[in-house]
Amino acid sequence: MPRPLTARDAHPSGNRRTLIVTGAAALAAAMAPTGFGLAQSRQLQPTPGQTEGPFYPVALPADTDFDLLRNGKASYSRGQAAWVEGTVLDTAGRPVSGAMVEIWQCDQAGHYHHPGDGGRADPAFQGFGRVTVDSDGRYRFRTLRPAAYSGRTPHIHVKVRLERRELLTTQLYVADDAGNERDFLWRRLNAQDRAALTVPFVPGADGLRAHFPIIVQA
Ligand SMILES: [Fe+2]
Repeated sequence: MPRPLTARDAHPSGNRRTLIVTGAAALAAAMAPTGFGLAQSRQLQPTPGQTEGPFYPVALPADTDFDLLRNGKASYSRGQAAWVEGTVLDTAGRPVSGAMVEIWQCDQAGHYHHPGDGGRADPAFQGFGRVTVDSDGRYRFRTLRPAAYSGRTPHIHVKVRLERRELLTTQLYVADDAGNERDFLWRRLNAQDRAALTVPFVPGADGLRAHFPIIVQA
């Protein structure tokens, strides 16, 4: 289950002095007449959480790598192939070393690998993947542009773990999908949270590409 929001989530600490490492802000601090002592604190807004839903795997599949379009030796060719990639940063903009990103989603016919969904998912679709971010916080998955299923707009479930802690559970949506406005969970999001969780899937040389940056309280 997602960690409940706390006052700290909504209002990141304002009294901790944070060194500025980003280009524009560092330049501004360096040029300030009073110098380093007035370095501004800049906190990134954490990616909003959403419900885990009922279809997190009961048991992880044998193949849990980054490529959901290959499950063991089987290849899945339905739907639209997509890269989903980004970084996991903390609210100060630092890569979260050791963070694991998990995604899970239904196959093109709308079925999850889960007994609660009748066990009908295509065995060639991996349906779940887990990667550890690199030293820059980057992660990458090869998967499907998510498909719709009964009652839901297309989405990919996302969880971020750091050792035994769950830092984030949320859902990723496809920009401009006609189903978003009818989706009970997407509609619940305010404009800022919609913007954080809804990204374009842009055509590229090797399929679609979606960039999903993740910010967590680490
Ligand atoms: Fe779902």
